[in-house]
Amino acid sequence: MNRVHIKTYGCQMNERDSEAVAAMLRTRGYSIVDDEAEADVVLLNTCSVRDQAEQKAIGKASHLNRRKKRNPNFLVGVMGCMAQNRGSDLLDRLPDLDLLVGTQKFHAVPDHLDNLISSLQGQGPRPSTLVDLEAEEGSQNTIRDHAPGERQVSAFVSIMQGCNMKCSYCIVPKTRGPERGRPIDDIVAEIEQLAANGTKEVTLLGQIVNQYGIREFPFVDGKSPFVQLLERVNAIEGIERIRFTSPHPSGFKQDLIDCYGRLEKLCEYIHFPLQSGSDKLLKAMRRPYTVEKFRRILDAMRARCPDLWVSTDVIVGYPGETEEDFDMTCEVFEQIGFDMAFIFKYSVRPDTTAEALGDPIPAEVKDARNKLLLDKLQARSLARNQSLVGQTLEVLVEGPARRGENRFTGRTRGYRKVVFDGNERLVGQLVPVTIREATVTTLDGELVLSGVDADVAAL
Ligand code: SAH
Ligand code: SF4
Ligand code: F3S
Repeated sequence: MNRVHIKTYGCQMNERDSEAVAAMLRTRGYSIVDDEAEADVVLLNTCSVRDQAEQKAIGKASHLNRRKKRNPNFLVGVMGCMAQNRGSDLLDRLPDLDLLVGTQKFHAVPDHLDNLISSLQGQGPRPSTLVDLEAEEGSQNTIRDHAPGERQVSAFVSIMQGCNMKCSYCIVPKTRGPERGRPIDDIVAEIEQLAANGTKEVTLLGQIVNQYGIREFPFVDGKSPFVQLLERVNAIEGIERIRFTSPHPSGFKQDLIDCYGRLEKLCEYIHFPLQSGSDKLLKAMRRPYTVEKFRRILDAMRARCPDLWVSTDVIVGYPGETEEDFDMTCEVFEQIGFDMAFIFKYSVRPDTTAEALGDPIPAEVKDARNKLLLDKLQARSLARNQSLVGQTLEVLVEGPARRGENRFTGRTRGYRKVVFDGNERLVGQLVPVTIREATVTTLDGELVLSGVDADVAAL
């Protein structure tokens, strides 16, 4: 009864929450299995950001519940944003669920599983669903465990939870609660521990990372708590690369811009969500910046860091988005030149301010706008990737590639994926790779043997 499989939907913060739950369960004696068919317990860590994400998880949970007919001891739990969003109403759709755990209660999962399992092993009737959706003070400090004794070359670190913005379309403030930062010292201690286990790269996670700690911790020498945190992480021995996601154009001040080129471990990459290229729509979405301001911040970063790689989020088909609004988005998209982007079709979310506006833009129009932006993105990504052919770049080797014998994969500082011939000993190392070919998503390269220790390089 102790094999647990966790399936994660949604964003990197959710992935991180799942990792922390897995680490806590392992410490408690559970084993985490990759194959769902082998598991005694399946936990779904869910996302509510678009309706489709919820439907996928609901479909999966009902499918899993059917397995109980064959194996009455099989347990299914739903955790995270959808559990928080839908609460106990979810049980109308999924009456057979064993566990429903909200976004501030991930750390309670091991206790809940222990209890469920011991009541199953008793002789009584099958217990009813265990529901734990309360808010909990300090819950941001509970997402800190990493797999004991296991090396993660690149690791996620959640520095905060929640969001205080009121973007009209977004459910996250409801599912994740108000913004709460972890103390800098705790985050630094977590990353030092990761570094001691061989981690080379960390990605600091939060809904708006540049707001980190602004209510809880003081500015020092004009530097925000987030910039102070970046400086501390930059000083940790063993950590070679720092990334973060997501920042918000509001409150993206000079102290943060100045980090580019100043903190040598901060990578030349930023995920910078635009949402729309029309000021009218940004206002309707309650995104408190203009396209001009967005562009000015990016220009300032690029001035300090000419080699910056930029990705973004855009929503198409928000209520009231006219052809002209969308044309503006296309124009801004081309002018700025995003190297990567996530383009989302608008989805109405319950209890958001935009809910009252309905969903007036037809699905075909959303599809067409989505495709147009994707085409632009692909053309630009391909051209920028191809500009790297012939260059030798520093690659952090993450592990074997999904396909191909002796093929290994890693990322450049600009977050481009590189595949090349290598070996297990290279994993976790920063190595020079000469780029030979480029597609929209991947670079194909050749390890520069003279840049690698001879005993490590031998294939
Ligand atoms: N905190 C981050 C975003 C988290 S949600 C930020 O503000 O940048 C990730 C992305 O999902 C958002 O940037 C947005 O583009 C998209 N998104 C959020 N709500 C959506 C909705 N109702 N419909 C479609 N896309 C949505
Ligand atoms: Fe959602 Fe806006 Fe908060 Fe991002 S900043 S999580 S889009 S409310
Ligand atoms: Fe989804 Fe929750 Fe992340 S709604 S995007 S999993 S914060």
